[in-house]
Parts: sequence; C-alpha cells; structure tokens
Amino acid sequence: MCETAKVGIIGLGKYLPKKILTNKDLEKIVDTTDEWIVTRTGIRQRRIAREDEATSDMAAEAAKKALADAKLKPEDIDLIIVATITPDMFFPATACLVQEKIGARQIPAFDISVACSGFIYGLAIAKQFISSGVYKRALVIAAEKLSSITDWSDRSTCVLFGDGAGAAVLGPVERGGILSIYLGADGKQGDLIKLPAGGSRIPATAKSIEGKLHFIKMNGSELFKHAVRIMADAALEATRPLGLKAEDVHLVIPHQANVRILNAAAKRIGLSEDKIYLNLEKYGNMSAASSAVALVEAVEEGRIRKGDKILLDAFGGGLTWGAIVIEW
Ligand code: UT7
Repeated sequence: MCETAKVGIIGLGKYLPKKILTNKDLEKIVDTTDEWIVTRTGIRQRRIAREDEATSDMAAEAAKKALADAKLKPEDIDLIIVATITPDMFFPATACLVQEKIGARQIPAFDISVACSGFIYGLAIAKQFISSGVYKRALVIAAEKLSSITDWSDRSTCVLFGDGAGAAVLGPVERGGILSIYLGADGKQGDLIKLPAGGSRIPATAKSIEGKLHFIKMNGSELFKHAVRIMADAALEATRPLGLKAEDVHLVIPHQANVRILNAAAKRIGLSEDKIYLNLEKYGNMSAASSAVALVEAVEEGRIRKGDKILLDAFGGGLTWGAIVIEW
C-alpha cells in the first residue's frame, strides 16, 4: 500500500429529503411560534425523510454524489465509515448496508456513534488509515433520520431537528489536506442529551414506549453553556499547534445546533461572525450530518477556495467534540 503523509477531501456529496417542515407547520403541532424558534435558534425550516426512507438510503445517495464528485467508482473505495445515531437498526451496521447499496467491494465498513461530532470523528479515523498507508481512499458519511427519534409532542426538542446526509471521499493529496485534529469526550455529562431506551439498559417494552423513552431527551440550557465553551476551546486546540490565529482561518464550518451558540463561541475566541458558515435556517440540527452538509454547501457556494484554511468544529451528545483544520 502506498505511504502518504497528506490526506485531504477529494469529493463531496449531500442528500436532503424533499419534504420541508416549516416553523409555521410546527405552530399547528405544538405550542410554539415561528418568532420563538427563529430568535432562539436561527432555524426556519427542516427536512423530513419519507417513512420508507431510512438512514442508509440517504447515506448511499450522498455517497454516490461524493464518488461522482471525486470522479471515482465504488470499487475505488477501501473503507466506509458511517457516523450516525439513527442507524437503520442496531446491526448490521448502516455502513454495511451502504456498502451493498453503492456496489462497493467487500471492504471494511463500520458505524461510529458520537452524535453531532460524528463527521469529524469519522474524518479523523479515516485519515489515520490513509496516512499510515493501510488504505488509499475512504468514504466518510454522516447521515441522520432524527425525525424517527423526535417526540413530536415536545416543543423543547421537536423544533430543533431535521434529517439529511453528507459524504466525503478522503484520499491522498499533493498539498494541504487535513493539518490538525483535536477530539474529546466527557462521559460525566452524558445525561444532558440522550435516547434512554431501546438499548441493553432499558430494552423496548410497552412501559418504555408509554414513557416516551425512545425519543431524544435533552437539557437544552445546560447543553448550551457546555457547547459555547467546548466549541471555542476545540477551535483553539485545533489551530494552536499550527500557529494559526482566528483571523488566519478563512471559514469555520461548525455543527449547526443554534446560531446563538455559534456567535457566543466566536466572540469568546475573537472570531468575526461572518467567518462562520451557517445553513441551519434551512435544515435545523441534523446531528452528525449538519457539519457534513454545511461543508458541501460552503464549497458549492464558492465560500471555500483552493489554499484556504478551514476549520470544522462540532459538539454533541456523549458529550463529544472535535475540530479539524483542513487546507483546501
Ligand atoms: O446538537 C448538540 C446538542 N444540542 C444543543 O447544543 C442544543 C443547545 N441548547 C439550545 O440550543 C437552547 O437551549 C434551546 C434552543 C434548546 C432552548 O433555548 P433557551 O433559550 O435555552 O430556552 P429555555 O430552554 O431556557 O426555555 C425558555 C422558555 C421556557 O419557558 P419558561 O419556562 O421561561 O416559561 C420554555 O418552556 O422557552 C420555552 N420554550 C418554548 N417556547 C416556545 C421551549 N421551547 C419552546 C418552543 N416554543 N419551541
């Protein structure tokens, strides 16, 4: 296998379900207002997958587009990682289902469960395999059907989430690529956002369903505080080893949970708000898929040019976090 030091993103793709659910639509479902949702979060609408559309379907569509963008065939890929907290089922892994759907070879395929930080963890894992020479090209896909674990009677959570998928092909590059990686986790704060039932602790029973334990439970205001601090710290930890200052970063592609979190984190590290790429008004919080789709759209919109240094920065359930600097 070829030995290479530089690993970068050589193809990108996204898939968003067609159905749009607006804040006005939510006003008819729960006691909320468009004004509350926009001012408290920045979200205006989100996409909702069809009932017969699972995470692997969205992941495969995004992956096919990323392969086409990289001008590669499925057989050119050596590894598939899917970051998701809404797998089609416990097992087989969603990545194995994607391998079959896209017609890849019998290459390793596995899922990672690190919530909103999943795309960044996935890029970090794939990068190690490629730079060590074990594999040449990897598909990292972040895909979520959060609508399937959303309590549509809970206004404190149902206005926040959406469905979608983003994918990146990683491979050797001559210049730039992934320059630094910073990952972390804090299991002590795991209760702040979780899906309590369905696993070995609380298997599915009539009681767990009645207790609505198969839906996301979240302490929003506590998470908010952690998110601001952690996203700011992660940005500094990823840029510091490179000697970069906030102004040296061309664009930050953050996890899209709440515009107020992002503005507060930017203020903390002296970053101007116009360097933060935002698309959450269209999609809401898609967990791992948020930063992946944001990266795809930032490139599509010409916000990232060759040679730019960009920062991916995410935070989520676990708690987990991660930041990556990439020279494009
Ligand atoms: O993806 C990573 C993990 N997730 C996050 O990082 C989310 C982080 N947290 C947040 O983004 C924010 O905390 C929320 C958007 C979830 C909530 O915003 P907040 O400003 O922290 O509001 P709050 O939870 O403190 O609630 C303020 C008020 C409450 O009413 P009272 O008790 O003050 O009368 C809530 O009941 O707003 C009420 N409220 C709503 N009102 C209208 C909560 N949800 C809604 C709603 N519509 N949808």
